[in-house]
Amino acid sequence: MDKYFKLHCQDSMINLEDPQYEPAIKRLSHSYRQLLNRYGKGNDFLGWLDLPEHFDLNLMLNIKDEADRLASFSEAVVVIGIGGSYLGARAVIEILTPYFPEAKSDHIKRPQILFAGNNLSEDYLFSLLKLLDQKEYAVIVVSKSGTTTEPAIAFRIIREHCEKKYGKEGSASRIVAITDPKSGALRQMAVKNGYTTFSIPQDVGGRYSVLTPAGLLPIAIAGFDIKKIVFGAQQMRTNLFENQTVDKNIAMRYALLRYLLYQSGKKVELMTAYEPKFFCFIEWFKQLFGESEGKEGKGIFPAGAIFSTDLHSLGQYIQEGERLMFETVLSLNQNQHYLPIPKDEEDLDKLNYLIKRSIQNINHVAEQGTRMAHVAGGVPNLQIELARIGEEEVGALIYFFEFSCALSGYLLDVNPFDQPGVEAYKKNMFKLLGK
Ligand code: PA5
Repeated sequence: MDKYFKLHCQDSMINLEDPQYEPAIKRLSHSYRQLLNRYGKGNDFLGWLDLPEHFDLNLMLNIKDEADRLASFSEAVVVIGIGGSYLGARAVIEILTPYFPEAKSDHIKRPQILFAGNNLSEDYLFSLLKLLDQKEYAVIVVSKSGTTTEPAIAFRIIREHCEKKYGKEGSASRIVAITDPKSGALRQMAVKNGYTTFSIPQDVGGRYSVLTPAGLLPIAIAGFDIKKIVFGAQQMRTNLFENQTVDKNIAMRYALLRYLLYQSGKKVELMTAYEPKFFCFIEWFKQLFGESEGKEGKGIFPAGAIFSTDLHSLGQYIQEGERLMFETVLSLNQNQHYLPIPKDEEDLDKLNYLIKRSIQNINHVAEQGTRMAHVAGGVPNLQIELARIGEEEVGALIYFFEFSCALSGYLLDVNPFDQPGVEAYKKNMFKLLGK
């Protein structure tokens, strides 16, 4: 969908016109119909498919009002959650926030968003509490099930801190719970204590929930326009629903290329970007695809890297290690700022040959050179070329990846909406803890 981004696949080493790919294209069309006509595996978890189209305007206003209310008295907002209950919000906030917000910028006036409940580090929580001692703060606890151990522990500890600092009543107006509409421990606690609540629809799984209040409330608190995010997703949805063939539908094309690369022995997809602000977005992508595809002994392993940083760590392996990966580059065309390389009369560092270039231009040339080297070294390359990155583009990207992920799961004939394997570590942990 050219308005937001383009998918380039000429370096994928696959020519989709080749008749040998016809059976795979047929399989893809079947997967697409399964998704759109809602008869594939896990079809009771397809609520995300229509979220942007049927977004309730009252809900949008409620989220914005609540975000402004919390922002009006908070220097920091702690978002407690793990997996799909925090990665989407974190990814979007990180992509949209300037690297070092200037004192006069709008973002500096918004509360700082802090994350908790996504690990079991005692030192992390201890140090967070020390920070909260000194800040006016609010808490958003996100858990669809309401029983996940990591966020539950963090919430118990932070709630105690909040109640000591602001009293039981005071803390109730500072805590927001986002959970299942009806059931679960968190819903019960929220009702009992009078917390403001929002719901994650029952038919939307955690990793597909970024366009629900789970993602949108923290994003709105950080000062971003959630209406534009939903609009971008809605535009992408229309495009993917209307264009039903692989030559016109970029999610179909991406899912098919990944599938064919996987069939040809490429078991790892390395998602890369040349802007560090994409780090968390790649984490979100890893969770979305990892939990959705990796089951029944199948699935592409989703990995991530930030270049050129990781060219100095993983670069050697990518170029010459096991030939098991392909690369998908999130390539950003337009920076917001221009910084030329200054001329130096002495030129001891021999950089004067670059003085006519901006750093962005050098970054692009690094990207081009890397792509050429990797492709020559047997690493097929897909490229998602973004003209710019703002709220609308992020919304479109989120929906594109969710849609592609569901198609990819169906191509592998797995249920892309469950995660039975996640239970294995929990079972052992609970047994060892004597639960
Ligand atoms: O995608 C998923 O369903 C998971 O990653 C969950 O989001 C994660 O395990 C957190 O679950 P919950 O929101 O129930 O605490």
